[in-house]
Amino acid sequence: MRILSGIQPSGKLHLGNYFGMMQPALQLQEQGEAFLFIANYHALTTVSDPARLREDTFDVALDFLACGLNPGRTVFFRQSDVPEVTELTWLLSTITPMGLLERCHSYKDKLARGIAASHGLFSYPVLMAADILLYQSNLVPVGRDQKQHVEVTRDIAIKFNNQYGSVFTIPDPSIREEVAVVPGIDGQKMSKSYGNTIDLFGDLKETRARIMRIVSDSTPLEAPKNPDTCNIFALYRLFVSPDEREAMAARYRAGNFGYGHAKKALAEAFEARFAPLRKRREELAQNRDYVEGVLRDGAARARAEARKTLTAARQAMGIA
Ligand code: TRP
Repeated sequence: MRILSGIQPSGKLHLGNYFGMMQPALQLQEQGEAFLFIANYHALTTVSDPARLREDTFDVALDFLACGLNPGRTVFFRQSDVPEVTELTWLLSTITPMGLLERCHSYKDKLARGIAASHGLFSYPVLMAADILLYQSNLVPVGRDQKQHVEVTRDIAIKFNNQYGSVFTIPDPSIREEVAVVPGIDGQKMSKSYGNTIDLFGDLKETRARIMRIVSDSTPLEAPKNPDTCNIFALYRLFVSPDEREAMAARYRAGNFGYGHAKKALAEAFEARFAPLRKRREELAQNRDYVEGVLRDGAARARAEARKTLTAARQAMGIA
């Protein structure tokens, strides 16, 4: 089974990204033949600073390698290192109905957020379909916001196969419904745009200070507390085993356990998890050639697959 997912390079990763996207993506390695790529062509629809895009793209590679991506198992590459995907995008776009794209929520949401309505932004789902179909992917794990894009991909693939013969595997989305809600330090959903993040590899002192600033209610120290309505607990539980989670919940309910104590426990759990990864990331950052080599090797493996599919699509359509 081939599992494929893409990640947009979007700057510093935070705990919301880690638990929502990165951990699930890394678990794919165990479930089948995983293809994971850094979607820098997609990023061009919203990022216009070349130096930043280059840097952010490389940073995602560092982040994933530091957090346990195994490049021997997973085909890990930069989207733009397999330019075949852009040709397939064109081929697919000739059979993609306008209405299918006009209905996409993600496009409408981006316009509502003030992003300029470029043609690339509009046809973003066709590039995504090309990503998925180029590698004959069976399963596409995505967050809920990307489900519609996978449905668009299925529609395009079915239409192509009907019209030109069976070239593409019809992929299934795998939606992470169970994904933990990761609150930010202000209690809203953790998001870069809210400025409420706890970054994975930020300055340690600053990170600790942000953890100590997580909002809580004003239940006095002595009083019993409800873990299920507490932002600190909601974060803490993501780091620990079920037993440790229950032990912490019991401390909340027993009273004489303050939010300050809970924050300290969270800061320790955070550091226990990320200190070794931070060290690995620093080593990788010193070793750019190694990281570039991993991406090059991934691209070569991806490209071999891409060529086969692209050739079949070109032949089916009558341009080869
Ligand atoms: N659009 C996806 C996102 O923003 C990233 C992405 C690009 C992707 N191509 C993909 C995800 C193909 C899955 C499959 O999260």
